[in-house]
Amino acid sequence: MPYPKRNILVTSALPYANGSIHIGHLVEYIQTDIWVRFERLRGHHVTYVCGDDAHGTPVMLRARSLKLAPEAFIEKMNQEHREDFARFDIAFYQYYSTHSPENRTLCVDAFEKLMAGGHLIWRDVEQFYDPAENIFLPDRFIRGLCPHCRSPEQYGDSCEVCGKHYSPIELIEPRSAISGAVPIRKKSRHLFLRLENFRPQLEKLLRTGMVDASIANKLDEWFSGELKDWDISRDEPFFGFEIPGEKGKYFYNWLDAPIGYLASLAHLLQGIDQANEYWQNPDLEIHHFIGKDIVYFHALFWPAILIGSGRRLPNRLSVHGHLTVNGEKMSKSRGTFISAAQYARHMDPQWLRYYFATRLGPTPADLDLNFTDFAARVNSELVGKIANLLSRVAPMLTRLLDGQTGVITQDALALLAGYRTAQDEIVAAYEDRQFATVTRIVCGLADKANKFVEDNAPWSLVKRDAEAARGVLTAALECSRILAIYLKPIVPAFSAKVEACLRTGEQAWSDIEASMPPVKIAPFEHLVGRVDERQVQVMLQDAQVIPPAAAVPPTATSAAATSPEAAISAPAAKAPASGSGASPSADAFEPLAPACSIEQFAAVDLRVGKVVSAEAVLESDKLMRLELDAGPLGTRQILAGIKKAYAAENLIGRMVIFCANLPPRKMKFGTSEGMILAAGPGGSEVFVLGIDSGAKPGQRVH
Ligand code: MSP
Ligand code: ZN
Repeated sequence: MPYPKRNILVTSALPYANGSIHIGHLVEYIQTDIWVRFERLRGHHVTYVCGDDAHGTPVMLRARSLKLAPEAFIEKMNQEHREDFARFDIAFYQYYSTHSPENRTLCVDAFEKLMAGGHLIWRDVEQFYDPAENIFLPDRFIRGLCPHCRSPEQYGDSCEVCGKHYSPIELIEPRSAISGAVPIRKKSRHLFLRLENFRPQLEKLLRTGMVDASIANKLDEWFSGELKDWDISRDEPFFGFEIPGEKGKYFYNWLDAPIGYLASLAHLLQGIDQANEYWQNPDLEIHHFIGKDIVYFHALFWPAILIGSGRRLPNRLSVHGHLTVNGEKMSKSRGTFISAAQYARHMDPQWLRYYFATRLGPTPADLDLNFTDFAARVNSELVGKIANLLSRVAPMLTRLLDGQTGVITQDALALLAGYRTAQDEIVAAYEDRQFATVTRIVCGLADKANKFVEDNAPWSLVKRDAEAARGVLTAALECSRILAIYLKPIVPAFSAKVEACLRTGEQAWSDIEASMPPVKIAPFEHLVGRVDERQVQVMLQDAQVIPPAAAVPPTATSAAATSPEAAISAPAAKAPASGSGASPSADAFEPLAPACSIEQFAAVDLRVGKVVSAEAVLESDKLMRLELDAGPLGTRQILAGIKKAYAAENLIGRMVIFCANLPPRKMKFGTSEGMILAAGPGGSEVFVLGIDSGAKPGQRVH
């Protein structure tokens, strides 16, 4: 059925430039990208822009700690973010940065219009100030006791223990998180946006269907009281755009961040006028994809900026929930704070795209990445049902019938008709971001085709009637082709392989109705691998602290080996001697070693090493031989007493920390040229300290 072609501008929230992209972020970028790919596949004109949110105090401090100019730091992060997104097939039309000339011009222009419209006001405010660092402290840079429950180490804006919000001034025993100094209160002149001026338009906006009902209800609460003026300036030192005519005053980064959507568009269209014109086109649909934590900014502040600067409003805010891993908030100590790069080093990005799709719906409900479920879902659905069809049928056609397709059997026509009529439901589901529904329908279709192949047994039919068998296989290939179109927005790399195998060329949505011309299919190439739970373990270990492999069974040889532990003990780990009768019980008190001076401690030269090889020392029951790439320091052989705690393959490729200035030590099984950092009671409970793989071999750590 013909349908009108739409013109759509889509954005994802601009990730902060002070950190790496992690799998929580990816919920948003994958969700947006699936929707964008779907609309494009349907033939609509879609522009998808994004970029880094490059300004603010955290970026400035992070750059400072790395001894980089902020400009150099954000450039590096921009490069990293682009690479991460590319690995996950996120297909932005433009990925830019808020620190751009276009954005500066657009911000200044918005500021002038807001000022002329009487929407801005200067006012004195009193804020916490770090007297040691000479910097006003953002709420997140103040720590203290919660004024409600007295939990220690809480941020200046809210308590992570009791969940209450408060003002930083209320915090008990406040401290600067930058210097540790006791902050003082200091006055400063700030610029405020008068939100109340926009109340009627903002209230109306909520009723235009811009957000889901659940969000609209939440927003209604905000309108029940007075809309507080919004502080949009910051004092120096700050990394951002200076406010014209005001020395040492900057636009708050949350002012220039959403304007960054326009700046990214301007860069794409090569001009600010072009971007303004594009934005103002009444036929353009504007969709912002965001997480639930930033609704306030996009439903109140951003529309106010748009109205105040004489612009039209977006059509839709698509709000998603937050990602949890194995049921809990992502956490560095649990090793579930997984960066995009860490994930991609060990696992196929298509799996994550598929899995997130199975968990995504239109509401801002949180979604959980449970790795057991992840492996089960990917293996049973994407691999076991969807890829399985082509993986069985294509090689069979090649083997039995020279890879040549033929005329679809009559029996298969109903099956194919069912495939085609499913499209209306699939379109509706995609359109409404019901991606879980899409995968469910697709799996149901795949089941039917697999059963059809099973029932018709082309491998035996071929002996009686070759052309009938060819017809069955051809029908199954046609089914695979349609499934690949349906899944193209979700797993584009997978679908591209199907297209290559069937030699169909790039498929569009309209090709669902078409039939494949007779073809000699290409030699089958593997479509997608199965998730191996061990890979998941290795990936989880590629985090800050490496949890040891739970109960790695000792190899037959090592279990049989009997070596006197004293003779082979590596300097790395102090493990109780097994079977010697001398091992101290776990809770026996061990007297303190002689005092170590701070100079002695400081003399320990700790470096990053990359494990390039690891092998259990056969003759020893404790030792593992590691070879570390220590960058400019060359390679180091280290004998470490971690054999019972780690499987060799789980260590290869890992970044560890080792002491590089110990004299080499000759041991029974070779020379150990250093010690890796590991601790624990011993045996299978020794924990190697890992470091983020962004670290460079040989780099010094403190
Ligand atoms: N820089 C702001 C957005 C400015 S938009 C004009 C920001 N950046 S962010 O890096 O913190 O987050 C970027 C997006 O990723 C947000 O929409 C946020 O909701 C989303 N997510 C960040 N962590 C997330 C999860 N753990 N789960 C799901 N989405 C998450 O906010
Ligand atoms: Zn509290």
